[in-house]
Amino acid sequence: MNQTDLKFEINSRKTFAIISHPDAGKTTLTEKLLLFGGAIREAGSVKARRSERHATSDWMDLEQQRGISITSSALQFKYQGYVINILDTPGHQDFSEDTYRTLTAADSAVMLIDAAKGVETQTKKLFHVCRQRGIPIFTFINKFDRNAKDPLDLMDEVEKVLGIESYAMNWPIGMGPDFKGIYDRQTEQVERFMEGSSKSSAKPPVSGALSDPNVQEGIGEVLLNQLKEEIDLLDSAGNTFSQERVDRGEVTPVFFGSALNNFGVPNFLHSFLDLAPAPQPRSTNIGVLDPETPSFSGYIFKIQANMNAQHRDRIAFIRVCSGRYERGMNVIHTRSHRRLRLAQPQQLFAQERTILDQAFAGDIIGVHDSGFLRIGDVLAEKDGLQFEAMPFFSPENFARINIANALKRKQFIKGIQELQEEGAIHVFRDLHVGVEAPIIGVVGQLQFEVLEYRLREEYGVQVDIQHLPYEIVRWVEKDEKLIKLLTESSMSTVVIDKDENYAVLLLDEWKAKWLSDRYEIEFHVQPHVT
Ligand code: G4P
Repeated sequence: MNQTDLKFEINSRKTFAIISHPDAGKTTLTEKLLLFGGAIREAGSVKARRSERHATSDWMDLEQQRGISITSSALQFKYQGYVINILDTPGHQDFSEDTYRTLTAADSAVMLIDAAKGVETQTKKLFHVCRQRGIPIFTFINKFDRNAKDPLDLMDEVEKVLGIESYAMNWPIGMGPDFKGIYDRQTEQVERFMEGSSKSSAKPPVSGALSDPNVQEGIGEVLLNQLKEEIDLLDSAGNTFSQERVDRGEVTPVFFGSALNNFGVPNFLHSFLDLAPAPQPRSTNIGVLDPETPSFSGYIFKIQANMNAQHRDRIAFIRVCSGRYERGMNVIHTRSHRRLRLAQPQQLFAQERTILDQAFAGDIIGVHDSGFLRIGDVLAEKDGLQFEAMPFFSPENFARINIANALKRKQFIKGIQELQEEGAIHVFRDLHVGVEAPIIGVVGQLQFEVLEYRLREEYGVQVDIQHLPYEIVRWVEKDEKLIKLLTESSMSTVVIDKDENYAVLLLDEWKAKWLSDRYEIEFHVQPHVT
């Protein structure tokens, strides 16, 4: 492939994640994007696929029982000359580090907000991860067909709670039972909200100019005056639009709509495709790597074991960062300097796997892994390449795990080891207890349930989970101050991590500060890289 074609392929890609609090409508919006993008014909199929796949993947029973999505994958579809990759990030309150890591693979994010609830906790956490990476963030405020917060207040909330400037791309006219539509500030067109319009198909909405008497009549005088006042206010006192500032993640373009009613979704999709970035350069140990560099490179952001119980497989998900992948190509695994053949890379469409012949910077591919690959590993045509380290997320929930049947010890240790390699859990050893009853740290409580379930289903091991009251872990040097703390304090537990680093489990920030002052110990939020 010549450089012009490569450039064209890469520049047509948009790889993004939708971030939201549970129930804001992420599944609905994803579905509507697929619907408008022509990837599915009827809404409802993503949810349907979610349940279909339980037939082949039994550990996801848990997912079904809880009605949530625990795993994440990437969906790809083509629309108007673009190749769109949506990274699916689980939206449950109790999500895992997986979600955070998945965000490293995105070039932009869509922040979905429930108009009645505003900025919720999960959205805040995910927003901050995107913010740290400085990626552009687009906001879709959903459910305007229901009673909602005042749109000006919502804009204000985004700015105050998240600390990002907001720029309204369109503006809602009324809400709930009086929802009349949205006004597009660029085209000055009104898109009328029609009660009872088909929710499942991709029919174009009725629209017209604000000056059109028919449009005005449909809106009514009160709402029309209110709209004019609010638009004046936005024009005179609101933020100004700047593509550069959107690119730097300093200002978020805001769209209003109702995903369930398809309303505002096509406008959003078109603006998003216009404004969102193509695959971006990445920082590496040898300088900034341009995605259009012909030689292939990528890194593993997620490993998922046993996705299909019948095959007992393990899949490593790679974000392609530069060049082009070709089926069967040889790459170098930077950590081991070994040559690997990427034989059967896959692309996932809502869990349906397709074998890929080629992929480009911006795409996500899944490769089979026999247990050798790790999160953060780099695969590239040239040896020695390193991307920025994966962000580290400190566990906030801790439990001691005991095997119910000592005869299963071997399987237990294997299971814990593999889940640790997958990046699903942090394993600590209590100084006094050892590997039989490790202390496990996780980001979200739900991961304990997943751990218990997977140890039982995949390794045949029953465990008891004894929750511990600690909420934070801090890494420390092993010295006499630590020994003193160890012998004197009952407010903490000293543990050793997988790389033999010492750490202290602590009840809360306040206790951490108190102990750190009292024993003059320096606490570190993450281990030294070994
Ligand atoms: P999530 O993936 O973010 O958790 O949210 P999901 O799309 O499952 O949507 C959560 C609920 O909100 C669903 O209702 C969905 O139909 C509803 N919803 C999504 N968008 C809109 C909207 O624009 N307007 C209104 N009024 N509701 C919306 P549910 O009753 O919990 O589920 P379901 O039975 O409809 O699937």
